[in-house]
Amino acid sequence: MSVCVRKAEESDRRAIADVVTATFGFTEGPEIVGLIADLAADSSAKPLLSLVATLDDRVVGHVLFSRARVETEARELSAAILAPLAVHPEFQSRGIGGRLVAEGLRLLAEAGVDLVFVLGHPAYYPRFGFAEAGVRGFEAPYPIAAKNAGAWMVLALHPGILGAVQGRVRCANAMDEPRYWRE
Ligand SMILES: CC(C)(COP(=O)(O)OP(=O)(O)OC[C@H]1O[C@@H](n2cnc3c(N)ncnc32)[C@H](O)[C@@H]1OP(=O)(O)O)[C@@H](O)C(=O)NCCC(=O)NCCS
Repeated sequence: MSVCVRKAEESDRRAIADVVTATFGFTEGPEIVGLIADLAADSSAKPLLSLVATLDDRVVGHVLFSRARVETEARELSAAILAPLAVHPEFQSRGIGGRLVAEGLRLLAEAGVDLVFVLGHPAYYPRFGFAEAGVRGFEAPYPIAAKNAGAWMVLALHPGILGAVQGRVRCANAMDEPRYWRE
């Protein structure tokens, strides 16, 4: 199996929508496809990092990182939010999601991004170094229920940030709606 991870191109749009729909289903899928399109058209989300995983040239996975801001009195920070991440159900649990996240984090670190946030499964993201964000002083754009606090996570791509900086995280306008912040 030869999986390749590369930056998404405009011509991948349809294949990404198909993967997202197959992954999230016909109820949630279209909303997430819409979010991806809205983020692509949203200047506050830029720079966007959109990656696809391909298997024999077929798109089987996708991850998107959009720009975020941290409202802090300390130094200016560069931040991103990871969402959404999808691997086609037929190809899950083969390391493809891991490849997409790891390559995204590598490229973001290279680009000088300081912090990456995700609202996701607390059993999945810690393997990449993500840890609970709320207890580290980073408030989500919308309140996360206490029982799901572990789902709001942060990863520092450079040393000396966690513990030194705190603040409320603001997402791109396209994602700035409560419906995207339920876990
Ligand atoms: C979550 C997801 C992106 C992981 O991608 P993947 O290619 O299947 O994952 P990998 O092969 O890199 O890693 C497999 C591991 O992820 C775990 N995993 C898969 N889905 C998970 C989930 N929903 N919650 C927690 N862990 C999950 C597997 O149990 C496996 O764990 P192990 O390595 O300890 O055995 C993929 O399963 C997916 O698209 N799921 C549905 C959509 C979704 O939940 N997206 C993420 C929203 S936060």
